[in-house]
Amino acid sequence: MQADEEKSYDLIRRHLLKARGFDISGYSRSFLGRAVRKRVGRSGCRHAMEYVALLRKSEDEINELIAALSVNVTDFFRDSGAFEALTEQVIAPLASLKIGLCWSTLRIWSAGCATGQETYTIAICVAEELKKIEQGGDLVVRIQGTDLSRAALNVAERGMYSEAQVKAIPKDILSEHFIKDDSGYQVSPGIRRMTRFSQSNLLDSPSQKFVDLIVCRNVVIYFSRPMHDVLVRNFHTALRPGGCLMLGRTETLMGPPRRLFEAVDHENRIFRKSDDEHAVS
Ligand SMILES: C[S@@+](CC[C@H](N)C(=O)[O-])C[C@H]1O[C@@H](n2cnc3c(N)ncnc32)[C@H](O)[C@@H]1O
Repeated sequence: MQADEEKSYDLIRRHLLKARGFDISGYSRSFLGRAVRKRVGRSGCRHAMEYVALLRKSEDEINELIAALSVNVTDFFRDSGAFEALTEQVIAPLASLKIGLCWSTLRIWSAGCATGQETYTIAICVAEELKKIEQGGDLVVRIQGTDLSRAALNVAERGMYSEAQVKAIPKDILSEHFIKDDSGYQVSPGIRRMTRFSQSNLLDSPSQKFVDLIVCRNVVIYFSRPMHDVLVRNFHTALRPGGCLMLGRTETLMGPPRRLFEAVDHENRIFRKSDDEHAVS
């Protein structure tokens, strides 16, 4: 039984890598075991080997398993200092620049947005900044949240959060940008208008183009080195010249793709797309 289970995990690992480039070889055995057992039960399979067969023929089941393996932990203003730095060093200058240009749009990609708290945090930072700028309200802002997990995106699209989920939000921000009702706190229409959500795999060719800023926090840590390289190259392609990338505080750019970016603020993991053409090759 034990040997069968081990064999099935190995087959699952190989299949996810081949089918989606999703590498779970770095995941702990107990974490992988919990996620697989959960999917075996929910999919109606009797054992892990039967589940391997299902996985081989069902794209939906691959999505479900990847979602179970992808930790959706998130929060509003997660690591608030990083968002202060992002606002000061990237959002404020970008907003001022764009206001000065007619018909321009500020494009931000919140990649691996989970249940939307990060995407709405960015939107609130932008809204607060635009309040300070004369004619700030005229700027078109498009913040695209993407994730692999459909279940997480459903929560993001609804934009409704519990008392416990909003506790990290400063009181003045909460009263200005959320509407409280019996079900919880709903993100205000003004903030929701800036945001869109869609499902996509970060390892596929980028769904976004000419983006001014990509925020991708606490996602790269799940990726193996080859997948990290694919992701960084995808981000480079999606950004407009001079666009910025923000990673999580424990993440960084590694190996050759590091040359595609230069550090703006190393502590807060903010990088700018390098304009050195040789870096791209
Ligand atoms: C820990 S959450 C991070 C959420 C948010 N960025 C934050 O820092 O609070 C990681 C998210 O990455 C998503 N994810 C993992 N691998 C992905 C992939 N290949 N493509 C898209 N999203 C992915 C997971 O579904 C999960 O929602």
